[in-house]
Amino acid sequence: MQTSYALITGASSGFGVDFADILAKKGKNIIITARRVENLERVKKNIENKYPVKVIIIPADLSTLSGVKSLIDQTQSYEVDVLINNAGFGVYGFYHESSWEDLNKMIQVDITALSYLTHAFGQRMKKLGRGNILLVGSVAAFQATPTYAAYAACKSYVLSLGEALNHELKVHGVNVTVLNPGITATEFLQVSGQKTTFYQKVFMMQSYPVALTGIKAMFKKKAFIVPGLANKLTVFLGRFYPRKIQSYFAYLVMKN
Ligand SMILES: NC(=O)c1ccc[n+]([C@@H]2O[C@H](COP(=O)([O-])OP(=O)(O)OC[C@H]3O[C@@H](n4cnc5c(N)ncnc54)[C@H](OP(=O)(O)O)[C@@H]3O)[C@@H](O)[C@H]2O)c1
Repeated sequence: MQTSYALITGASSGFGVDFADILAKKGKNIIITARRVENLERVKKNIENKYPVKVIIIPADLSTLSGVKSLIDQTQSYEVDVLINNAGFGVYGFYHESSWEDLNKMIQVDITALSYLTHAFGQRMKKLGRGNILLVGSVAAFQATPTYAAYAACKSYVLSLGEALNHELKVHGVNVTVLNPGITATEFLQVSGQKTTFYQKVFMMQSYPVALTGIKAMFKKKAFIVPGLANKLTVFLGRFYPRKIQSYFAYLVMKN
């Protein structure tokens, strides 16, 4: 049995549950975190029934600095050589009509917590001389997206940070990969407050294959990956339009 651990944030639903399953199947011990402890207990029980690995639960609210610090502190005694920075959510609606509290929490989880964890565990992995970090971005990272203005901006930050760190940490044996999913069947829309659009109904992917694509890309040390043909095409074709047209298209497919 391996002695090192993978830390997976946002492991109480959606992609996080699948990341946990995929890594446990590979024989990795896992530390899972989120706010909903009953969901984490269910994930732990399910994994321990299937695979001979250890599962540690550390509940944390990543919208607070104290929550992130406490997670970092509580993992000090474990050798963490995989970090899956997955926790995140979107706020749907026009920026000035959204509540500042919601937007601020989103920025704290999607940017601040992700950056802080990547900093802390990047340093620990650098000392170890090995490690893998996966950042969950989005296809929204590739263009400005009216109705998801701040969320898309958060994900652009994640993509840019991850690509730069892929370069910076490579020499230390540490890999950083950004997974950029398109719309996927998780609790994302329920949390963001968006009704499923026609475009989303047609192109909705399932969570497990998207998570698997991310893990494979991470172990192949790719800087970023876009799962699914339709998402790949959208991102590729976007390069040929002016940015204003790209964001108008994004608005058209996202508006309720
Ligand atoms: N599904 C999509 O269409 C899609 C597309 C592109 C990118 N993404 C990204 O994929 C990632 C995972 O989302 P998902 O689609 O799997 O949605 P999800 O099912 O809603 O899962 C989100 C996870 O983040 C955790 N989380 C949210 N706020 C948190 C907080 N304050 N503190 C700690 N954990 C928190 C949630 O746990 P608790 O609520 O238990 O705390 C949950 O485990 C996110 O970064 C999202 O932006 C999703």
